Amino acid sequence: MKCSIISASLRVCESMQRSRAQKHVFLYCEPIVLTAYLRFLRYLKHDSKRIFIDLKVLGMGATIIVGGFFGDEGKGKIVAHVAFADKPAIIARGGIGPNAGHTIEVGRRKFGVRMIPSGFVYPDARLLIGAGVLVDPRVLLSEAGLLKVTERVGVDYRCAIIETKHIETDKLDPYLSQTIGSTGTGCGPAAADRAKRTTAQAREVAELSPFLTDAAAEVNKALEAGKNVILEGSQGFGISLFYGTFPYVTSKDTTASQIAADIGVGPTRITETIVVFKTFPTRVGAGPFDTQMSEDDAKKLNIEEFGTVTGRQRRIGWWDPTMAKYSAMVNGATQVAITGLDKLDPSVKGANQYDELSAKVKTFLREAETVVGVPFTLLSTGPELTEIVDLREEKLERA
Ligand code: GTP
Ligand code: IMP
Ligand code: MG
Repeated sequence: MKCSIISASLRVCESMQRSRAQKHVFLYCEPIVLTAYLRFLRYLKHDSKRIFIDLKVLGMGATIIVGGFFGDEGKGKIVAHVAFADKPAIIARGGIGPNAGHTIEVGRRKFGVRMIPSGFVYPDARLLIGAGVLVDPRVLLSEAGLLKVTERVGVDYRCAIIETKHIETDKLDPYLSQTIGSTGTGCGPAAADRAKRTTAQAREVAELSPFLTDAAAEVNKALEAGKNVILEGSQGFGISLFYGTFPYVTSKDTTASQIAADIGVGPTRITETIVVFKTFPTRVGAGPFDTQMSEDDAKKLNIEEFGTVTGRQRRIGWWDPTMAKYSAMVNGATQVAITGLDKLDPSVKGANQYDELSAKVKTFLREAETVVGVPFTLLSTGPELTEIVDLREEKLERA
């Protein structure tokens, strides 16, 4: 009986047109039918490329979320929203290390995280830190305890370790602390030692032993089983070591390909790449900022910001279409998330529907989308988790 139901479902699945309806059937039947369907494809000797094409059609698989400007675009908020909407089995963090500071507001509670993936607010996901990330064990253990997520956290045993000496060098070296304006979290010096192959790995740190895992194996296994996974980036395109405003950059590339490599996921496994922009880009630390506005203008617009890690005042700029287009290109964006629409027009604060947006905001979105050439699917209308318009169903033609 069970077998005939499954084989009937499989026949239906196989013959179905690739459409939004198909996705709904899968989501409704998932995980039993989806898992059986994948096994069936393998039984038919469909190669894994075909299987992942199918997952893409269904809007499932690995979603990368990265910053498109100079960091602090609001990736934390976007990751948290996508997590609640897509129910991933795993949220894995790539990026540099604890120099990142993600802010997530849920109701009246505000969290700032530096090492734990910002999707932690979604309670059903395993939280992993990829091998490419630099780990400061003190920051990690303290955050895991405070946020009560110890049971869900896994650290790849190959992560490199930030030691006190790295933090001291980062704070005392005048080139790093003053010329570059580093965050003083030890990331640059630890990355340099990693390149010299002198850093310790997570597997050598006793306090980390309960968390150790092979994050790459966990993520790829989840993807093979047809589960959703979010790959979370940190920092932003403009401070990429490769593509940013060198030398005023961080100590590693920050683009989507790097985030996938940090976690151990190959390019063929990525289904969506969401690049996050903010209406008024910001930059902390030194370095060129083509569209920077005066402090007076930022004050008048009431859009001043302060850093999550360092508390430093962020420099504020006007929307930069040229940088957005270039950044979307190098990241291979399939979607754009934009935060701070309420800063452009306070009347839209908290909107959840496209129709609730003002003419000013709609015009901005239309023009920006035309220049960038990628669908703007996630429109954030305030810092709180629920203040967002999610247009993915409407705008992504998966068929
Ligand atoms: P990094 O990994 O350090 O680059 O950080 P991030 O991209 O996670 O951003 P961060 O949390 O440092 O900064 C974004 C700020 O914008 C936070 O204070 C958020 O609460 C806030 N924010 C996010 N979305 C919105 C929005 O739509 N409107 C407003 N007004 N604020 C927002
Ligand atoms: P480091 O990464 O601490 O070495 O800092 C190098 C540069 O990158 C400095 O200009 C920092 O302000 C900037 N930076 C590093 N991490 C972040 C971040 O998460 N958001 C914004 N800027 C960052
Ligand atoms: Mg930040």
